[in-house]
Amino acid sequence: MTTIIKNGTVVTADLTYKADVRVENGVITEIGQALRGGTELDATGCYVMPGGIDPHTHLEMPFMGTYSADDFESGTRAALSGGTTMVVDFILPGQGQDLMDAAKVWSNKSTRATCDYSYHMAVTWWGEKVWQGIEDSAKAGITSFKHFMAYKGALMVNDDELFNSFRRVGDVGGLAMVHAENGDVVAELTAKLLKEGNTGPEAHAYSRPPQVEGEATNRAIMIADMAGVPLYVVHVSCEDAHEAIRRARQQGKRVWGEPLIQHLTLDESEYFHPDWDHAARRVMSPPFRNKQHQDSLWAGLMSGSLSVVATDHCSFTTEQKRFGRGDFSKIPNGTGGLEDRMPMLWTHGVNTGRLTPNEFVAVTSTNIAKILNCYPKKGAVLVGADADLVVWDPEKTKTITAASQQSKIDYNVFEGHTVKGLPRFTLTRGHVAIHDGEVRTQEGHGKFVPREPRPAVNRALTQWKDLTAPRPVERTGIPATGV
Ligand code: URP
Ligand code: ZN
Ligand code: ZN
Ligand code: ZN
Repeated sequence: MTTIIKNGTVVTADLTYKADVRVENGVITEIGQALRGGTELDATGCYVMPGGIDPHTHLEMPFMGTYSADDFESGTRAALSGGTTMVVDFILPGQGQDLMDAAKVWSNKSTRATCDYSYHMAVTWWGEKVWQGIEDSAKAGITSFKHFMAYKGALMVNDDELFNSFRRVGDVGGLAMVHAENGDVVAELTAKLLKEGNTGPEAHAYSRPPQVEGEATNRAIMIADMAGVPLYVVHVSCEDAHEAIRRARQQGKRVWGEPLIQHLTLDESEYFHPDWDHAARRVMSPPFRNKQHQDSLWAGLMSGSLSVVATDHCSFTTEQKRFGRGDFSKIPNGTGGLEDRMPMLWTHGVNTGRLTPNEFVAVTSTNIAKILNCYPKKGAVLVGADADLVVWDPEKTKTITAASQQSKIDYNVFEGHTVKGLPRFTLTRGHVAIHDGEVRTQEGHGKFVPREPRPAVNRALTQWKDLTAPRPVERTGIPATGV
């Protein structure tokens, strides 16, 4: 099977040039001028870019008494429709469950994926089995480990568990990740708000002010530094968290921050909407913030202090959101975005001049491929790389509606937004899954992408730790006692 993408402009994280791209058996085999042979895809007027990688999804996830509505089939179909060709989903072991047993559950679900996927392992409890499971997981190609500092009484881990787990993750050459919110304070504020009669969805935002995120982000950074492990902070929503990340990076710490497309483009006013359903559909953690926080996130992407744009795609139907009528703390937390991340970021980032097309590729694909150690198999337009590509038409427009989306849910948080910049074609390992608006995804086409540990970064941290470790001072003599 040979496909030639013709007459396009190749845009990568660092280069822009006119070239045709030959794809054979799922990989890029040639990049050059006037290539011939095979099925041709016309990319005239388009950019040929690495397909997007969304490193933060929750497909068919058991959470808050229900399951997120999109599964690996509908979720990855939505991804491909919007130009994303790889997702990284979170395995959530239950309390006391072996990590690799949980991994089997996720492998069963992901057999339906239409694009490639990888996993992060969540550390949801601590014990001997988890200590061992971290090594088993890394050997199985799951080398990033997420810790929830929120969701007290469910997924949350405490600081001693965090420190032990971070050290273990560092030992196996893994990447530590955190959902950074102070779960103790959130629990206190939630109880207080409910007691005072604040039961509506807006109280979800009141219960999670930026301070709870800033504090937890800073704490995670310091604990990671003491443990000697690189750290990735998911869904950074506010200046308070961004400030901690910016400071850490300036100090030479290996810390990356991930804002979501939702936080970049939607704000807290959504929670004050008079329609309960409208507000509840937007309940997620951390909540949407005000414009000053949004400006901070954009500035972080522009300056490089924030590295990756994700979605945290965790969709619930209106019916599921209504579990929280009369008590906001029971509204399942999560929003969708897989189909809309790339078009929304292009529209609000590239079309406004905040991001260059190359920076767009960096924050939607290449940076995370490097952080997660699957570059240049993914996140690249290079000979030998997987042909996970998007042929991006910067002139194509649409208005986002739930009625025309791939996701299973009955609404879209971006409903009514007009986007300019959409895929003409999306290729997943050479298969043209999106063909000029036509969805040709294949259930089961997606393959697991195992990832090696990142020895270079971890070695650098360990080496520095060794060189600067506490040592006894060599003295010439010790004064005798009583002199
Ligand atoms: O509200 C959210 N973000 N739901 C998904 C789970 C998580 O915290 O990432
Ligand atoms: Zn989270
Ligand atoms: Zn999440
Ligand atoms: Zn918009």
